[in-house]
Amino acid sequence: MKAFIFDLDGVIVFTDKFHYQAWKKMADSMGIYFDETINNRLRGVSRAESLEIILERYEGTPLSPEKKAALMEEKNNTYRSLLATMTPCDVTNQVRDTLKKLREAGFKLAIGSSSKNARFILEKVALTDAFDAISDGNNITHSKPDPEVFVKAGQFLGEAPEDCVVIEDAYAGIDAAKAAEMTAVGIGDASGYDKADYKIHEFSELLKIAGIA
Ligand code: BG6
Ligand code: MG
Repeated sequence: MKAFIFDLDGVIVFTDKFHYQAWKKMADSMGIYFDETINNRLRGVSRAESLEIILERYEGTPLSPEKKAALMEEKNNTYRSLLATMTPCDVTNQVRDTLKKLREAGFKLAIGSSSKNARFILEKVALTDAFDAISDGNNITHSKPDPEVFVKAGQFLGEAPEDCVVIEDAYAGIDAAKAAEMTAVGIGDASGYDKADYKIHEFSELLKIAGIA
């Protein structure tokens, strides 16, 4: 193990509630049923694929690509106005301390997120400098469960896949990590996924996996 690659939403920060609120507002405006269970299916999935999942409940006339783009823009504007309220207090001390200890022990750290808002979020919570590389929705063409975002993160760090450990809260993210031939750690929702090599309930358990606790 030489490097840790972290998913962002649901692992480092809990932006899931903002995604939910923003998609809910859009769905309500279109008269589409949307709830937290459907929202769970959006974890790790790209913005465009998320919209398609929400539109499974849409019963109106087919939407043009332009209309879909407008709906995604509307959702993203609401989402970014919610993200703008974030502060460094939105990252727990446990997450901050664990990242610091991993780095001090010589591990390289990266973000591997499907989000195009990843850098904005990291700036808001003052964590940009905590990572050696950021692989996000802006440098990929295929979203999780495709391995691309993690393969790129490993390349940015200059580390081989077998030396990289991915931390994920999404089933699609665990699948992506395994497809990238990396070690997969499931936390949160993904702590119940049998494909994860390790399942943790506290972020600080990573120190044990890294062999420094
Ligand atoms: C992932 C989230 O991190 O980013 C997904 O888990 C989200 O729910 C995806 O759809 C894309 O995010 P964004 O910020 O580019 O719309
Ligand atoms: Mg996530």
